Order: sequence, then structure tokens, then C-alpha cells
Amino acid sequence: MSKPFYITTAIDYSNGQPHIGHAYEKVIADVIARSRRSLGQEVFFLTGLDEHGQKVQQAALAAKKSPQEYCDALAADWLAFAQKLELTNNDFVRTTQPRHKAFAQSVLSQLHAAGQFYKATYTGFYSAKEETFLMEKDRRPDGTFDPSYGPVTELKEDNYYFKLGEHQQWLIDYIEANPTFIQPDYRRNEVLGFLKNNTLEDLCISRPVARLNWGIPLPFDPEFVTWVWFDALVNYASIAAAHPELALWPADIHVIGKDIVKFHAVYWPIMLKAMGQPLPKQILVHGWWQKDGARISKSTGNVIDPIAVIHEWGLDAFRFYVLRELDIGPDGNWTDAGFRSRYQAELANGLGNLVNRSLSMLKRYRQGIVPAPSNELAADAAKAADETRALLRQNQLQSALQSIWGLVNRANQYVDQTAPFKLAKDPAQAARLDEVLYNLAETCRVLAVLLWPFLPGTSTKIYAQLGLTGSPDQFDLSRWGGLTAGHAIGEPAPLFPRKDEPKKEA
Ligand code: MSP
Repeated sequence: MSKPFYITTAIDYSNGQPHIGHAYEKVIADVIARSRRSLGQEVFFLTGLDEHGQKVQQAALAAKKSPQEYCDALAADWLAFAQKLELTNNDFVRTTQPRHKAFAQSVLSQLHAAGQFYKATYTGFYSAKEETFLMEKDRRPDGTFDPSYGPVTELKEDNYYFKLGEHQQWLIDYIEANPTFIQPDYRRNEVLGFLKNNTLEDLCISRPVARLNWGIPLPFDPEFVTWVWFDALVNYASIAAAHPELALWPADIHVIGKDIVKFHAVYWPIMLKAMGQPLPKQILVHGWWQKDGARISKSTGNVIDPIAVIHEWGLDAFRFYVLRELDIGPDGNWTDAGFRSRYQAELANGLGNLVNRSLSMLKRYRQGIVPAPSNELAADAAKAADETRALLRQNQLQSALQSIWGLVNRANQYVDQTAPFKLAKDPAQAARLDEVLYNLAETCRVLAVLLWPFLPGTSTKIYAQLGLTGSPDQFDLSRWGGLTAGHAIGEPAPLFPRKDEPKKEA
């Protein structure tokens, strides 16, 4: 058996509720996972929670719970959220699980034994909010630190350091020799620019227990816990190791947001090199969502609640909007008007209307019995399928949706051009009507298959309305001609109910 395609997401901090950014990333990874399965690959998809560190400890304290109790309660919410998004993850990691902690400790012991760590005294500044050490060079021209660091305190403490610096040139060479390691290209160039213009400081990988105890103890010094990022990054390997029979490592894709590129594209590869492990094949970096042109922020109330959107519009409308609106890479801007307009134009009037009128006409004019096959739209369907297959292999999800909607629009145009409702009035046109109805129903079937990774619920409904058993989850089913003469379809029903316009403010 060949090694499964192994795809991961960032693991989310469990110090609050999921928001649009978390949902977006998980949907990207889910669509890639589903498309690879549809294309015949075995896939292992991992997501989960980052449960250690100061942020979580502080949130637990504020909630008057022990950190573990606090994490256990939140984990239930996040697992429910993953189900709400219909993620097809094969495992869900929590960094407080014994399987992860034991693996992280074995890595720490191995690197310590190999002389990769040293202990030193640090005197300087510390941002508790960002859990990071700051230096004189981090001061702004007016002498202060950026407000994003929160309160900065002076500090003198012992810690363990990881010798990053020795691997800097190796990493530059690796990234240059592997152009698809960091994608999109402009993120790769940013990392290369950073590495070429800075000397990598050695990385502090511990926190004294006296200051922070919510972490994995260093196996070689109980006075310290592991710095949260060293712990978190290891999840990708610890869970691979928890399924030894699958031989998952190295990962094929780490899907992450633009703010955590340095951790994944600098620290993690160097950690793996020191561990003697191969590197992941690709780090795929997505942008950040804003709402109405401003940063998403709980404190200003500028938020999008994905659960509320899903409740009102349905999961597939949510999945569609985030993937169709925003390519993987740049930042995006959520507007409720934009969401509503895509729903109306592309889902309700585009796909929904096509499927509903195609199947309703087949029901009305032919009692729902599929006529003899005809190939009028076969070339259009094959073109969309070929393009979609190639784009999915390159994780070009937005372009794949554009290509699929090329077929939706072509078929809607075909209805207008052939006017089956007129043909139905003329008995002499019965054979022509048969052809048109076949082409429309078969196009709907092909669309169900192409849409499966993106809109699994809708795709399944289209299949059921066509009276087909099984699931449209194998890309090869998109080959033209799957519907056979005499097959009886099921009951048509609207896929995307029309929504009333929001009431205008008086
Ligand atoms: N726990 C770390 C990741 C450790 S991975 C080994 C973390 N967690 S997070 O909860 O802050 O962020 C999780 C992911 O959500 C990150 O990839 C981040 O980029 C993404 N997003 C957070 N806000 C976002 C938006 N507004 N828009 C899109 N993605 C965003 O970082």
C-alpha cells in the first residue's frame, strides 16, 4: 500500500471559541483532503487543538477552572465545530493527550542527547501576551515596543536554547532547491528574504515552571516546561507516530495562516533536520479574513460567527463563499452583502435553478424517466472535469470552482437556447426534447461529482434527486454517460431556498 496523502491544519489555541479564520483554514484542508480521496488517493487529514501555554493558562484562570478542565470543556465545543463543518479529519489531536506528550518528550530527550540544546541566562524583555522575548532592536524609534506585544517586562532567567543558527545556510539552500516547499511564491520569497538578511538567533525552547507550569515538562530538567510552539509543532509528527502502520511522515501539506509562517518554514524544518526526519513536502499559506475592510476583533465587535452563518444559510453556502471569494494566499474581505449576492447569483440562480428546472422538466415531460443518451453537452462537461481535475491536483480551489461554474452557466444557457418548455408543446419535437432533457440531467450528475469535495451536502442531494444510489465521491464518475435510458429519477427539491431581502432600516 502506498503512503497516504497526509494533510494537516494549524492546531487552534483553545482559549476561546472558533471564528471565521479557524473555519476557513479547516475548510481549505477538508476540500483538499476530499479531492485527493475523490481522485483515488488514500488520505489522512489531521486537525486539532493547541492546549498548552500561557494564553490557555490565563484563560483557564479567568474562567476559574483548572487548565485541564478548561481545555476539556472547550475541546467538546471545537469537536462539535469540526462536525458542523463536516470535516473529514481522520484524527483530532489535543496536545494534552498522553500520546502527544510522550512523543514530544522523546524528541526533547533525543535532541538534548545529541547536544542540540544548551542552558543560558537571559537578561532582557518579555512579552507575556506574545510569549516571546524581545531585544533592544525590537524597540520602535520612540523607544517603546509595538502595542501588539502588550505589557513588556524586564526579565532575567535561565532557559534552554536550541541551536538554530547552525542550520541557517542549509535551510536557505533547501528552500532554493525546492521551489514548491513554501507556497504561494511570494511567501517563499518573504522567508528567503528574512533568512538572507538576518542572523537566526538561537531559539528559547523552555519556560521556568516558576513562571508557567501549563506545559510539557522537559524530560531532562523538571524545573522547566516546553515552550508552547516547540510542543505544538511536534503534533504533526506525534500523531503520525501514533499510526505507525500508515507510515504517514513526512506530511504532504501543512495548511497554515500567514501569521505563523516563520514557525512552520524556519523553526519546524530545522527541528526536523536535527531530529533526522524528512521535511514536509509543502507549507501552504493562506491569507487572513477581514470584515467590512477592518481587522476581525472580538473587542471591537467586528466578528463573523461561522455557526450563525451556517445556521442561517446552510453549511455549503458558507463553504462556497469562503473558497469562491478568496484564493489561497491573499487576504480577503467578508461583507454580508457580498455573501448574499454570491448566494443569490451563483448558488440559488446558478446551480440551484439549473438542477431544479432540469429535473422538474424531466419529471413533468417524461415522468422522471431518463431518455436515451445524447452527447450535446459532453464536450463541455469533459472540459470542466479535465480542468477541475488538474486544478485540484494543484490545490487551486478557487479556480476549480470557477471552472465548475463555467459548466453551470453553459447548461443554464443551453436551457435558454433550446427552450425545452416550448419543445414540450410540439409533439413533432419529442425526440429533440428527449435529447435536451438527457443532456441537462446528465450535466447535473457530472456537477454532483465535481462539486463533491466543495459542497458535499449539495452534491449528495443532487445525486439523491437523480435517484442514484451510492455517493458522488469518486472523480471518475464524472465521465459523461453515467445516466442510462429508462432510469427513474427521484423528487426534485430546491437546493438553495431563496432568501428575502433584509428589511431596509426606516
Ligand atoms: N496554536 C497556533 C498554531 C500552532 S500550529 C502548530 C495558532 N493558533 S490560532 O488559533 O491563533 O490560529 C490558528 C489558525 O487560524 C492559524 O493558521 C491562523 O493563521 C488562522 N487564523 C486566525 N485568524 C484568522 C483570520 N482572521 N483569517 C484567516 N485565518 C486566521 O496560531
